[in-house]
Amino acid sequence: MNTTEPSYDLRPLTIADFELVTSLWRSTDGMSQLESPEELQTFLDRNPHCSILAEEGDALLGAILCGHDGRRGYMYHAAVSAYARGRGVGRAMVEHCARHLKTIGIQRVTLFTLNDNCPAKEFWKHLGFRQRDDIIQFAFDLKKFD
Ligand SMILES: CC(C)(COP(=O)(O)OP(=O)(O)OC[C@H]1O[C@@H](n2cnc3c(N)ncnc32)[C@H](O)[C@@H]1OP(=O)(O)O)[C@@H](O)C(=O)NCCC(=O)NCCS
Repeated sequence: MNTTEPSYDLRPLTIADFELVTSLWRSTDGMSQLESPEELQTFLDRNPHCSILAEEGDALLGAILCGHDGRRGYMYHAAVSAYARGRGVGRAMVEHCARHLKTIGIQRVTLFTLNDNCPAKEFWKHLGFRQRDDIIQFAFDLKKFD
């Protein structure tokens, strides 16, 4: 049995972490449509205790945005710093968020990934997420109403 404790901590992501996590997300391939500070604040206010980051001392290892609409859970921007990958940080963050959603009554979590992000697709499948090929996504840009 492996009893080695991970050397990093998971803690709730707060608006004070905006610069830190945004810098990680900006430097990570596969991240898109990052939030402004106001948008992140709104998201965190609507979804308390759902989003987390992983840190080792002062070093940010990873972060994930998680929330729900009362029916389904959603995960966004799952990212681990390149140097910290392969240590279980991604799995730990995802499972932490999934467990939290379950405790507040959410039964399913959905996420979006770019179709050509093959490593990410394999990661999610490895964690037990199933790829949905029976639905396609439609989006409407509300800036059209400006
Ligand atoms: C995807 C990502 C978050 C994974 O983080 P990580 O900390 O390296 O992943 P972990 O070490 O926790 O891996 C968890 C498990 O997934 C497996 N795994 C990770 N990446 C994998 C891949 N590309 N293919 C197959 N399995 C993979 C690991 O082997 C591990 O298996 P185990 O727990 O059974 O031993 C990280 O690679 C990343 O930040 N990628 C760039 C950003 C990105 O594409 N994010 C997803 C956008 S939706």
